[in-house]
This record gives sequence, structure tokens and C-alpha cells, in this order.
Amino acid sequence: MTLLRRLGIRGNARHLFDHSMRVKLNGKMNILFVGDIFASPGRRIVADHLADIMQTNAIDLAIGNAENAAGGFGVTPAIAEGLFALGFDVLTTGNHVWDKREIYEYLERQPRLLRPANYPQAPGAGLAVVPARNGVECAVLNLQGRTYMPATDCPFRKADSILAGLDPGVRVRFVDFHAEVTSEKIAMGWYLDGRVSALVGTHTHIATADTRILPGGTAYQTDCGMTGPYDSVIGVETGVILQRFLTSLPVRMEAATKGAELHAVIVEVDESTGKARTVRRHAIGGD
Ligand SMILES: [Fe+2]
Repeated sequence: MTLLRRLGIRGNARHLFDHSMRVKLNGKMNILFVGDIFASPGRRIVADHLADIMQTNAIDLAIGNAENAAGGFGVTPAIAEGLFALGFDVLTTGNHVWDKREIYEYLERQPRLLRPANYPQAPGAGLAVVPARNGVECAVLNLQGRTYMPATDCPFRKADSILAGLDPGVRVRFVDFHAEVTSEKIAMGWYLDGRVSALVGTHTHIATADTRILPGGTAYQTDCGMTGPYDSVIGVETGVILQRFLTSLPVRMEAATKGAELHAVIVEVDESTGKARTVRRHAIGGD
């Protein structure tokens, strides 16, 4: 007979007790990160599966990248609110966050929607410190690379200054590094190894197979992969992109609609040290 049954704790009360016991007994917590949620196919597959993923994997903190959630280009306040209502605690973004003008004002009043911290002068913030479901304060940091990306301040030095200013008691730290090239992402992984719990890349929309824990205890994956329509070229209608490559003429980008997949990373973190214990990819859809 389990301790809970001996104490006569059942049903919802048992679930809540079980959750807190899990934290107290083993001191670990689970962070879910969902890669670039792209247009309505991405939002739909998140709506269909997020609650189940969170329950099945005992997720304490849910983060998603929403920079392409509005038709593939930016995010609106209403779409951000809808994603928060589904269960996300923090939303990160990237270079496309500025595509919808109405998000500028929303970024100023919604601290859980992040834009990359290393934009030199921009509305909103790139860091959020929020309590997870187990009560542990967690930092979420959004940074953007500079290679083949808009000009921004140095993300390496920006990470240094933000981490230096962070309450040392906030040990659980997640970084979404929104960058184009693998080398810049890998370099940032090594640079922050041992200083953050996890660093996962976004922006290229293609999941990489290099999921690992670096020697200092930082969980790492170069790119999480897109959560959106995979019968496409990184989310955009295939015919449109082929036309652009074949003719070099400007084309009107349109989000694809078919082949929805969800790509995520789940990190198990020791909440007392902030070190990652395990990290794994979690995908729904496709093959
Ligand atoms: Fe991007």
C-alpha cells in the first residue's frame, strides 16, 4: 500500500499531494519547451495536445516560441492570450515579433511575452522570472543571434549582464536562443554551460538531433523544430518558395496548411542546483 493510500488521500487531493510529494522527495521539476508555433496549424496542434503533454509528463513550467503564431508572421495580443489560456507560462519570440504593430503595446503590459533581450531599444523585455507550478521561481531568457539576422547587441555579452543581475536564488534558468546558424547556437550553448539549466534554439524550424547535456549541466539542442505545417518549406507554401528560388523574383508568402507536427523538448531539472538531469525531444505527428 502506498503512503498516499495509507493516509486515505484519493482523487484530486491525491493528485495535488502526489505532485508536491514528488517535488519534495526528489527535488526535480520538468520544463516543456514547444518550438516555433507557426500559424493556425501550429496553434491547432498545440490546442489539441498541450494539456495532455503537460499532464502526462508532469510539466511544472511550459514555454513556447510564438513569433510566427499569427499566420506565420508575428503574434497578436489575442493569439498570445489564447496560448497563455492553453497553459503556457511564458512565450518567447524572435525577429518576427515586430511583424504585427499591435504587439508593441502588448509587450509593454504582458511581461510573460518575451522579445529577444539583445534588441538595443525596443518595447517589452527579454527576461521573465515566474513561479512554476511547483512554486519554484524560474528565469526564462530570450536571446537572438547576429549571423544572418537583424543587427542587435551582442547576445553573449547580453547574457552575461542579465545573468549577473539575476537573483542567485533563481537557479532554474531556461534560454531560447533564436538564431540562424548552428555554430552560433552551439557556441552559445558552451558559453552558458553551467550557468543556465537549458538552452534550446529556435528560428530555423528544423529539429536537430544533437539533444544532450553539456558537461556543466546545461541541457542543449541546437533547434527545437517548428510546431506547424510540415508539408511546406519551413512553414510557407512549397509552390511559393519554389517560385522564389527558381525565379529570384519577390513572392507573397503564405502559410501552408497541411502536415501539422508538434516539436518540443522536455528538460528535467534539479530544482536546488538548476542543473539538468535529463533532456529529450518530444514530437507529435509526422512519421
Ligand atoms: Fe525567426
